[in-house]
Amino acid sequence: MIEEVTLTIDDVLVKAVKGISVLDAAVKSGICIPHLCHVPFLSDIGACRLCIVENVNNGKAKITTSCTLRVQEGMVIRANSEKVLKLRKNIAELLVAHAPNSRAIQDIAVRCGLKEVRYPFHNANCVLCGRCVRYCSEMWQGNAIGFVGRGKDRHVEYPFGKRPDTCKKCNSCVLYCPMSVTPCGEVMKTGEEHLCGKCDSQMAMAEKIPGACVWCETGKSFQCARYA
Ligand code: FES
Repeated sequence: MIEEVTLTIDDVLVKAVKGISVLDAAVKSGICIPHLCHVPFLSDIGACRLCIVENVNNGKAKITTSCTLRVQEGMVIRANSEKVLKLRKNIAELLVAHAPNSRAIQDIAVRCGLKEVRYPFHNANCVLCGRCVRYCSEMWQGNAIGFVGRGKDRHVEYPFGKRPDTCKKCNSCVLYCPMSVTPCGEVMKTGEEHLCGKCDSQMAMAEKIPGACVWCETGKSFQCARYA
């Protein structure tokens, strides 16, 4: 028998299957929590930190990633408090600065209320979200790619730098990569990176319906109000 728990997310009573994440419970109930590294059928590693929420316990609130937090009976979650929105916006800003050529990241940043980027741009081609690594190992048991190195040297690579036979060239790693969704204009050149404001409709929708998803065909696998 499926066991359910009841929790409160943003003052809404939500019923959720025991064991699922707070992020999944929120999304299933139509409560938007922006997220990037989470894929519903894969394990969560809490890499992007966009999905942060406040977990309120005995009057004390602790900031934590909702994709790695399991639902519990009586839990109280603030997914869109002033503090969370401010922190999340800063995380989105850092992500855009790190990898401005990701349409998925740009869209999420707009949803988080970002209007300008104050940090220097890096034009990186990976944000270490690990979607590719987890898809390869968990869906195909391929383990053809993995994280290598630490700190600023951390990156995704084939084991020993060589494509193993377990890589079937299925292209799933590319499909699930947020960097594979490029901005609708051309790829931004170094020194010319910016917060993508070309899609006025996105800005307008983000302003009109705070927290709502910006519908975008190219970025649909990253939308947060419901799963594609
Ligand atoms: S979606 Fe939770 S940390 Fe990325």
